[in-house]
Parts: sequence; C-alpha cells; structure tokens
Amino acid sequence: MNAGQNVANQSRKFKILMVCLGNICRSPTAHGVLEKLIQNKGLSKLIEVDSAGISTYHIGDHPDQRSIVAAEGRSYSLEEQVARQVRANDFQEFDYVLAMDVDNLHHLESAAPSGCKAKVQLLLSFSNDAIESVPDPYVGDAEPGFEKVLDLVEDACQCLLEELQRELPNTKTEQ
Ligand code: 4NP
Repeated sequence: MNAGQNVANQSRKFKILMVCLGNICRSPTAHGVLEKLIQNKGLSKLIEVDSAGISTYHIGDHPDQRSIVAAEGRSYSLEEQVARQVRANDFQEFDYVLAMDVDNLHHLESAAPSGCKAKVQLLLSFSNDAIESVPDPYVGDAEPGFEKVLDLVEDACQCLLEELQRELPNTKTEQ
C-alpha cells in the first residue's frame, strides 16, 4: 500500500516521526523544518510531524541550544519541543518512522514489530544527495555541524513533502 492509499482509506492525518539518538539535535531539527514546510503549504490538517530518540539520555529536555540557534537563523522554531523516547506504539501510529542515521535505522528495524504499519527508512532516502546519514553534531563545539544538519534536513524534507503531495489526495498546492 502506498502513502496515498493509506490516507485515502481513512479520514485521519498522515503521520511522520523523525528519530535520532538523543532527540535534542537532528530529529527536532527535522521535526521543526518539516512542520514549517507543511504550515507554509497549508497542509497542517492533513500531515502531522513528531520526533523521538532511540536513547533515554535526554527525555524531558528541550532541544540543544546550538540546534535552536542554528534553526532560528533560518526562521524555524524548535524551543517548544520536548525530547521523548521512541515507543512500541509509534510503529502502529505513524505512517513513516524516519531515521537520521544508519545506526538509528538498524535500531528501529530491530524494534519494529513484524507487519507494523510504519515504513521505517532513512530521512535522507528522500534526498537529492548521495549521503545516507545526517552527521551527529552533538560532540564538540563545531558550529558548522549544525548548519550542515539544516542543509541536509531542509533538502530531504522538501523532497519528502513533494513526494507526499504527489501521492496523497487533497494535498496538491500551487508550487
Ligand atoms: P541527536 O544528537 O541524536 O541528534 O539528538 C545527540 C544528542 C545527545 C547525545 C548524542 C547525540 N548524547 O550522547 O547525549
């Protein structure tokens, strides 16, 4: 079943979960970027985004200040987000569970119940770039790492939303 059939059969939102290790840098960035693109296209009633982490390290924390500042520089707001861990139910509730890197993907593939509803794949599988993983910017204070996260995530989220608009009924807008 493709994404369009999935939504055409029911009146609920199409749901996308962004996942990284800590849920304080990469997945909140992907969450904030895709949410804004969805808002800009007037599709918030049809498509919903959330994010979560593989680990328990930062449950209850707001995103890393460096991610917040980098995102603000491109007019994305992340500060309201609160980190949580991936739950078993996410694989039934979400249509796409999108991993930021290959380690996250392997973890999610092991955790996903067989026959679950969610498609589990890399966010960058939607990208124009050949890179598979969004590099982890957390360790060290290399600010360019946070800009690179935004570059990769913006491109992939744009491509993801274009694909959804091709597949999902009622989501086509003026480009
Ligand atoms: P994220 O980055 O997975 O993009 O949120 C990290 C955040 C925290 C840690 C590792 C990566 N940590 O080890 O605490």
